[in-house]
Amino acid sequence: MNSWEEKLFKEFILSPGQHGLENGNTGSGKTTLMFWLVDGFLQARNKLPASQWETLVWFDRGKSSEILQLSRMAPVRLLIPESCNIEINFFEDENGEEVQHYEIEKIYFQDPKEVWNLLDRDHINVLCLQRFILHPSLVAPTTAKLFESLILKAMNYDLKPAGYTYSQLKGKNPRVAIFLDELNNIAPSRGQGFSGDQQAGAILQHNAEQLRSQNVRLVASSHGWRKLRPGIRSSFQFLISLRGANYPSSEQPKLYRFNRLFEKLEPGQAIISFPSKTFTDKIRIPWYGKGEDLGYIRYIGHLEPEHKPRTQKSSIGLEDLVTALKAVVSQ
Ligand SMILES: Nc1ncnc2c1ncn2[C@@H]1O[C@H](COP(=O)(O)OP(=O)(O)OP(=O)(O)O)[C@@H](O)[C@H]1O
Ligand SMILES: [Mg+2]
Repeated sequence: MNSWEEKLFKEFILSPGQHGLENGNTGSGKTTLMFWLVDGFLQARNKLPASQWETLVWFDRGKSSEILQLSRMAPVRLLIPESCNIEINFFEDENGEEVQHYEIEKIYFQDPKEVWNLLDRDHINVLCLQRFILHPSLVAPTTAKLFESLILKAMNYDLKPAGYTYSQLKGKNPRVAIFLDELNNIAPSRGQGFSGDQQAGAILQHNAEQLRSQNVRLVASSHGWRKLRPGIRSSFQFLISLRGANYPSSEQPKLYRFNRLFEKLEPGQAIISFPSKTFTDKIRIPWYGKGEDLGYIRYIGHLEPEHKPRTQKSSIGLEDLVTALKAVVSQ
């Protein structure tokens, strides 16, 4: 470990509740960097007592074989909606044996709110939801529900992944890191998402500081600084810039000066900035692969939007009033 890596390890990985954000364009190496950070959290277990091990939750985007890649690092627990499934086939090596990987177990849930009760410290918990939502109208309410229940649980000290001895935690939440690759899809800035898509982002933004104080951190990536809700992007203390990261001078005057340097980074090169606004040199991130050499994965089924019967309203609600006002204003 060089001195910058050591600094990142000490000040970020070993320090619970610090949010981190990667910025870079498509193909710049964001997902690979996420694997590297997951690896960092797993390595940290060698230095920490078990009560301080961080429970890892990975939001699966359903892209290629990322889940398989995770099974190279630690046992994986897949959390899957009950009406859906995931089929995994590992390749065999020359001796006819499955290529080496940790076990992958599956747990099914009925309601997204439940997933926070199904976490386990000793697995990488992979929340497989996004890939099963094909209908855009379903994305925002489902993710909003999910984060709402996370925040309630965190606030009530009711986040209790399996694996910890709770008397050792003295009433506190254990450390939890939530990996949100492509957070800009969950918390887009205005005009970047679908209409009505703001709810989950607003919930996260409003509670980012609270989560931090409750030992829950977000480790996120975005396709661009401006693609992310303004309020949420200012919640991240650690910023990792990859190729194409670009910052406005009004928000990040120091990073702004390096926009041209970020433009020229190669895939897999990154520059980390710390809360103190010190920067690393260009760091070369190790290559982890995409898991495609391990096997293949098939997602089965999808979630249907609920068709609520239309009800006759007897009185006008606040929502109706706002809609009506918006219609008048836009004319
Ligand atoms: N650390 C690395 N070392 C070498 N090559 C890398 C590294 N990271 C990424 N690459 C190269 O860049 C490609 C894209 O990497 P990755 O999928 O991590 O990027 P991404 O930013 O997540 O892309 P996307 O926006 O498409 O999800 C890889 O297929 C690989 O060829
Ligand atoms: Mg990616």
